[in-house]
Amino acid sequence: MNGLVIVQHPLIQAKLTKLRDGATDRLQFRHILEELTALMVYEITRTFPVRPVQVSSPLERTEGHELARPVVLVPILRAGIVMLDGVLSLIPNARVGHIGMFRDPQTLEPVEYYVKLPPNLAEALVIIVDPMLATGGSAIRATTLVRSRGASDIKFLCTVAAPEGVSRFREAHPDVPIYTAALDRQLNDHGYILPGLGDAGDRLFGT
Ligand code: PRP
Ligand code: URA
Repeated sequence: MNGLVIVQHPLIQAKLTKLRDGATDRLQFRHILEELTALMVYEITRTFPVRPVQVSSPLERTEGHELARPVVLVPILRAGIVMLDGVLSLIPNARVGHIGMFRDPQTLEPVEYYVKLPPNLAEALVIIVDPMLATGGSAIRATTLVRSRGASDIKFLCTVAAPEGVSRFREAHPDVPIYTAALDRQLNDHGYILPGLGDAGDRLFGT
């Protein structure tokens, strides 16, 4: 599917399998989600532009490289917050915005309760993170919000996506690529992804 990248790395697939496993406990689940996110970020940042910088080794001065543009990470609360730590392990100086939303259990539409984003989003490479792309409502709303604050270079990173949500997201934001570890079969009647990994927030936070 256009604009959808399924990151197929063997370590990512092995970690995703552990996340799917209902026997994986909360502590392991958090840890594995963090590791999986770091591996995905390693893959998706391959094309990020770099610029030359001078560096002094203990022996002489030489040329190195640094990221040419600032990176802004935007986790969708709650579950995205654990992915944030995975990204920050590789891009520690990224700025971070937060978007809090939950799905109304009846309508499945996102309900927003918190937004705090860094300034100057226009110059930044923005990565929105959330483990689940189900109906797509939360991802679409978060992307619309970030865009309304000036961001134009946006990537959406999740671990499991449903075809229904991917199609809806592609229609709403055709220029924003989705990176996922898996494209699952379908949603159930309650908007949960099948086979999926259950309710990510509940598994992470024990609610
Ligand atoms: C989950 C998940 C996404 C959303 C995906 O959050 O973390 O944000 O559902 O569903 P959608 O694609 O249908 O919008 P949830 O609403 O359960 O809130 P939580 O993170 O606070 O548990
Ligand atoms: N949110 C989740 O946490 N899991 C799903 O399967 C769908 C939405």
